[in-house]
Amino acid sequence: MEDLMNKIVSLAKRRGFVYPSSEIYGGFGSCYDFGPLGVELKNNIKKSWWDEMTKKQENIVGLDASILMSPKVWQASGHLTAGFADELVECKKCRKRFRKDFIEGKKCPECNGELSESRKFNLMMKTYVGPVEDEAEETYLRAETCQGIYVNFKNVAQSTRLKIPFGICQIGKSFRNEITPKDFIYRVREFEQMEMQWFCPASLDKVTQINADSDADKRGWTPDKWFEFWLKERLNWYYGLGIKEENLRTREVGKDELAHYAKRAVDIEYKFPFGWKEVEGVHNRGDWDLSNHSKASGEDLGCINEETKEKYFPNIIETSIGVDRCLLMFLCDGYEEVEGGRTETTEAKKELETVLKLHKNLAPVKVAVLPLVKNKPEIVEKAKEVYSFLKQNFVCQYDESGSIGRRYRRQDEIGTVFCITIDFQTLEDNTVTVRDRDTMEQRRSSAMSIDKII
Ligand code: GAP
Repeated sequence: MEDLMNKIVSLAKRRGFVYPSSEIYGGFGSCYDFGPLGVELKNNIKKSWWDEMTKKQENIVGLDASILMSPKVWQASGHLTAGFADELVECKKCRKRFRKDFIEGKKCPECNGELSESRKFNLMMKTYVGPVEDEAEETYLRAETCQGIYVNFKNVAQSTRLKIPFGICQIGKSFRNEITPKDFIYRVREFEQMEMQWFCPASLDKVTQINADSDADKRGWTPDKWFEFWLKERLNWYYGLGIKEENLRTREVGKDELAHYAKRAVDIEYKFPFGWKEVEGVHNRGDWDLSNHSKASGEDLGCINEETKEKYFPNIIETSIGVDRCLLMFLCDGYEEVEGGRTETTEAKKELETVLKLHKNLAPVKVAVLPLVKNKPEIVEKAKEVYSFLKQNFVCQYDESGSIGRRYRRQDEIGTVFCITIDFQTLEDNTVTVRDRDTMEQRRSSAMSIDKII
């Protein structure tokens, strides 16, 4: 399994999905850069999530809050206190630090030295705003995007006139000073989150209780019922993008593992080559966030139940997923090797062949245009014409170097959905061959209507 992971990391680097950050200086603290294909894949993941969570849903709108916020936000949210901290142990010999829950014995995994007692280590990354580095200017890079949503809850409700229940979505960078970043881009210090916060009536609301089970009137649903609803919606998103069912599961988070804000949490886990690991959390945050921000800011973030006229703080059901982890999951799930090769030319046969079976909406390159030969100017000219035409609407590659089999292999390895070959027949009847990545089936199609097939 380590071998498989090494292959995926190597492919990611070689083909321009993911590079180590500041590599020419030896890399930097588990940070990564996304190359030409990585940025396309990331954008496609984000678009798919955004469309799913905003366009397809009723009553969900978007937001893009700033990364830097008042430090008072993090005080009120509980992130500066022990709540948002990992337990860490230090090796008395080599001074390396490890997360206590990642250590199996009492000795340092690096040098076998003795380990210290554990102590709490806050994960917030400190920074300074303004020209003077003193405490008055100290703040933090955000550790979760959702706090920007909570502090804007009233603004959004007022500008959109949305009524509870409604949701706010956000995609953006978060930062955590992880003690033990691990497993390539799985656990990193700078990452992107896609979070949706669903504001719904509290369980104890009388009207809610009466209508709690009525599917017809979702306004009466309890937070528990919304929790189940969003968990199911989220799972369907993964299946819809082709994630293999056997590689996905849910796990009820134990009471002793819950984050400081959560009443309940279910993790959506993926079977990575390094084991079952969380990719997304669905959380019932109760009224923790809005009540604490109300108390700390003096701004009333409560709502009035229009029927009972009672005041309450909306409860929050959150879905939270990391883009980087998710990208790694899609790379792992799509990665396939075919022993002996599967391409059409004898030259490419007998070699191990790699195919990245990404869903067509996620694949970074949708189509490659390949002139059969490069020494026939009419064919090259026609291929460039088709490429220019398709480029207007799709991410395309033009490739004329090497045998056609080699070129198919290069495209399969990065998950290109279709390869279009311009050959001698194209010059006669303006048709091209369209090859499907997964079935390798080839069919002829009119050159100027291939955009309809893709
Ligand atoms: N707002 C809730 C929240 O942030 P979380 O479980 O701490 O909850 C949610 O994080 C998701 O963010 C995780 O499921 C994961 O996908 C991603 N994530 C968290 N820490 C990460 C890290 N160090 N590196 C990469 N992704 C991370």
